Amino acid sequence: MIVKNIKIKNFRNYETLQIDFNDNINIVYGKNGSGKTNLLESIYVLAFTKSHRFLIGNNLIKTGTDTAVVKGTILNNISYNLEVILSKNNKQVKIDNDEVKKIGDYIDKTNIVVFYTEDLELIKGIPSIRRKYLNSELSQISINYFNVLTDFNKLLKMRNDYLKKISDGEKVDLNYFDILTEYFVAKSVFIYQMRDKFIQKLNKICPKIYQKITGHEGFEIVNHPSVNFTDYKAETLKKELTAMLEDNFDKELKLKTTLYGPHRDDFDFILNGQNLKNYGSQGQQRVAVITLKLSEIEILKDYKQTSPIVLLDDVFSELDIQKRESLLTYINHDCQVIITTTDLDSIDKSLLENAKLINIDNGKVVKGDEINE
Ligand SMILES: Nc1ncnc2c1ncn2[C@@H]1O[C@H](COP(=O)(O)OP(=O)(O)OP(=O)(O)O)[C@@H](O)[C@H]1O
Ligand SMILES: [Mg+2]
Repeated sequence: MIVKNIKIKNFRNYETLQIDFNDNINIVYGKNGSGKTNLLESIYVLAFTKSHRFLIGNNLIKTGTDTAVVKGTILNNISYNLEVILSKNNKQVKIDNDEVKKIGDYIDKTNIVVFYTEDLELIKGIPSIRRKYLNSELSQISINYFNVLTDFNKLLKMRNDYLKKISDGEKVDLNYFDILTEYFVAKSVFIYQMRDKFIQKLNKICPKIYQKITGHEGFEIVNHPSVNFTDYKAETLKKELTAMLEDNFDKELKLKTTLYGPHRDDFDFILNGQNLKNYGSQGQQRVAVITLKLSEIEILKDYKQTSPIVLLDDVFSELDIQKRESLLTYINHDCQVIITTTDLDSIDKSLLENAKLINIDNGKVVKGDEINE
């Protein structure tokens, strides 16, 4: 999949902007605060109708204006025009000028892999960030997972409400609670199996990428569920999660919440047996997250039968020259890549020859064959 061009209006620090991209490597460079990350974000919003950045405010509309518009031409076997119109309380999306009511039909059309600096929180941050990652990746590749997860979240909330009621001494139907638990376990089993398969898939791809970038072996992702399962067969998962919930019923009543299940899971980034969260250097942590992101290229290619657009925000900071070069060599294959950097000198000259260079300053393109309307 390729984004041919983008037109932005009143989005973050951009008033109006129009850019044509090339089909391979595009490098967006400029000073801190010029709008490089915002430009990548606009492509993400064009694809998914919302932002992926979770640390920064979700204020996509330019301060002092009412409506942000992001338009773009996407090539995915055929070419079509996407448009997202965001106002304070409303969002409108269009394909080829026709309004699309179901967001699911819209986002199904696109295929993107993105790395932002704040994705480093995937290693450093709290477990819910990692769960959110798994959920969003699996939802992208399986609508079934998305549906089961939606049911699971409803059941979890109902079960927690029930625990609270029982704990507060309200008269409730305990048979109903058992049925809730049974459904909760059934949905959990599906989620566990999908996550396990996904992590196995990551472990087929990630160690190779990590090795290509760093020259080092021994990278893996280790699943860390809240229950120590013997194996991931449906029967085992069902039996062991049910037993855990039964054994800890009193504890759950005391804390008024469900203590075991996929909403309590985690996974770790491991290098030669050591957890990168505690032992990794900044650079190692960065390569680990980039590795995870790049592995999605292969996974998405498999599922969607087309290469994703790869958006890499400030990937080079904290990497030594050798790693920058290996990373660039790795990504320089059949995907369209859009990279941001403050420092053009940090990029290998041979790569610049084939790349489109886009210089941004204060929300405007200052160099390149672009027009600021
Ligand atoms: N809703 C908004 N309206 C107007 N300006 C905004 C809005 N949201 C963010 N900005 C501005 O956008 C600018 C930051 O842009 P961005 O994060 O894209 O910069 P950058 O080029 O990636 O910088 P760095 O090199 O530091 O990562 C900031 O000056 C910020 O105040
Ligand atoms: Mg930035």
